[in-house]
Order: sequence, then C-alpha cells, then structure tokens
Amino acid sequence: LKTEFDFTFADYPSHVLIRDEFPSVNEIIHAFYPAAGLAEELPILAVCDTNTESLARKILGDDNRKIRLLVLESGEKSKSWESVETILRAAVEAGLGRDGLFIGIGGGVTGDLTGFAASIYMRGSRLCLVSTTLLGMVDASLGGKTGIDLSGLKNLAGTFYPAELVYLPLAALYTLPEREWKSGMAELIKTAVLDSGEFLDLVKKLTFLEEEGRNSSVYRECLKECISRSVAYKGRVVEADPKETGTMRPLLNLGHTFGHALEEAAGLGVISHGEAVAWGMARACKLGLTLGITPPERASEIIEILVNSGYETRTPHPLVKSVDSLMNAMMADKKQRSGHGFGVAKLRFIVPDAESARVVSASDILSGDTLLYKILSGE
Ligand code: GLY
Repeated sequence: LKTEFDFTFADYPSHVLIRDEFPSVNEIIHAFYPAAGLAEELPILAVCDTNTESLARKILGDDNRKIRLLVLESGEKSKSWESVETILRAAVEAGLGRDGLFIGIGGGVTGDLTGFAASIYMRGSRLCLVSTTLLGMVDASLGGKTGIDLSGLKNLAGTFYPAELVYLPLAALYTLPEREWKSGMAELIKTAVLDSGEFLDLVKKLTFLEEEGRNSSVYRECLKECISRSVAYKGRVVEADPKETGTMRPLLNLGHTFGHALEEAAGLGVISHGEAVAWGMARACKLGLTLGITPPERASEIIEILVNSGYETRTPHPLVKSVDSLMNAMMADKKQRSGHGFGVAKLRFIVPDAESARVVSASDILSGDTLLYKILSGE
C-alpha cells in the first residue's frame, strides 16, 4: 500500500504522507529546515480552527520555540478576506520572513485559507498542511487550490499554491462528526467514479464494511487503501493539468456545477460541500443519461453507491425547492470560461461516461436551459 507520494504540480514539488498518527512539530520543522540550529531561529505560524484547536495544541506541544497559533472560527463562513487578512497580520506579528513557515492544521477551509495567505505573504512563503478531515485528505489538501468565498460565490478569489508537505493523519478521522464524514465521503466516491475499475469496487466494499463499524480494523484498512488510491489519482490528474487549463483537472469537478448551485442557493454553509456534490453527481448522471453519454447501468451503479452512503439524490432537493434559484446560482458559477456576462450557454458539466467522465458544454446541448430546468426540477 502506497503511503508516500512525490508530486510536481507545475513547478511546485509536493510531498504527501499518509500516516496512522499525527506528525510531531519537530518532524515538520526538520523536514523544512534540515540544517541544525536554523529551525530554532525561524518563526512559524500555525493556523487551525475552533474544531482543531486541541489537536493543533497536541501537535505543537509546549516546546518553547516561537510558534504562534492562530485559531479561526470553524465553518464555511470563515472563508473570507477578513480571515486571510487576520492570518497575514498574525504572520507579521510572529515575525515571519519569506522563508518563514505556515502550518495549516484542519480541514478544507483551514487549508484553503492558510494556503491563500501563504501564497501571497511576501509573494509566497513556505507551506505545510496537516489535513484532519476526510474531505481534506481525499481532495482539498492536494493540488494547491486555495481560496475564499466572495459575493455569495464559492472560491471566487484564490490561487494555485500546493503545500510543499502534506500530512494525512488517519487518527484524525475517527473523531470526525457525521456531517464532516459524509462531506468527505462524497469526494472519495467522486474520485472513485472518475478512476473507476478497482477503485470503484473498493469504495463499494467500503460502503458494505460500514456495517462492521468504522472502528473495525477491516474498515480502517479499506479506508486507508481508498485514501491512497484517491491521492494517487488526484496527484496524477493535477500533475497532468495543474492549473485546470487542459482537459484533465476539470473532471475533478464532477458533481460540482450542480453541487455549487445547491450550496449557494441554500446559503453557503447550510448544506455541506460533499452532500451538495453527491446530489450534483446524481444530477450529472441524469444529464448524462439524457444525452446518451452515461450508460444506464453506470448511472444506476453510481446512484446506488450514493444512496447506500446515505446521500440525498432526489430532486427537487428538500432544502432548495426553487429551480429558479438553482438556475441563477449556476449561471453565476465562476467556472464559466467567458470574461463577461452570465448565461446557461457558458456552463460546463462533467458527465460520467462508461470509463470515467467527460466535459459537456451547455452550448453543445440543444435547448440547454429547458433541459437543465428538467434535470433540476425532476419533471
Ligand atoms: N477540488 C478539485 C480540484 O482540486 O481540482
């Protein structure tokens, strides 16, 4: 089982380690500053949120090195300019220079914020992420997307800035709240659908093993293998298309055009990202079926996995019944490729095909808005 990965995303090397336990701060510091003595001098800023504060304190210990810990409010609402500014100011106060180190300890939000701040602090500082959620481990901490939400739109501003070192300590997963767990599992299923074959079979096995309990060793082993495969797949895709300008990285947005619309129409933070993506994948299957791209047995297989994992796949979604609000949110999606104006024709969807998935532009779909209206309303 592969637990150590070396990727190069554009010009950035990124080392990813899957571990059973948490790293110690000494290990992290040594990885960044191998020269003895130097580490004592260099200021470090660790960032966590109210959910991961005790974990962060455990990792940092009470060593008398000058490590400043900044604790942000947990949740999607923290993905703001204000948080980035707070991190930047804390970095100045902690005395970080360009070779100073930012350590983000937490889930996707903490990683996106710490990464964004590190990417612009003195035009780019050093970055380590310790990912503590399933969503972070299988998706958000890998491949360098950073960002904040703005004007009610997800990740409107951000950068590509891969962490030099990413730890995925599995011990963090077994105390995750159910909502967090489900949010990550959807991204794991998404990656398995894209990779298909053995990985998808493994995810199905994982769903069945839930009956044994998530604490069982057989479940944990299977989960570790799923995470390893997810890292390997995503790493391959991002290496091939680091800035999403090609045809590979957009595939990682399977379920996201519909999913982001649901998240935004419900009000950011109301429906978890993963649950929205799961619902979005079900919509993508429906679109693919209608267009003759997704074979019927493939669509049923994907939807069955989602239902067995406890996701809402029906439409209209119980929390957002207004199709108009979903259409409006979708048209404002930043992933449109145009410079100006919003419109259905500019949307792109990732649709499962027999082997993996492919990109479909709404402009390629005859009477796109009528069809999308049907997909969203379930009529
Ligand atoms: N979360 C999708 C990506 O990293 O491209």
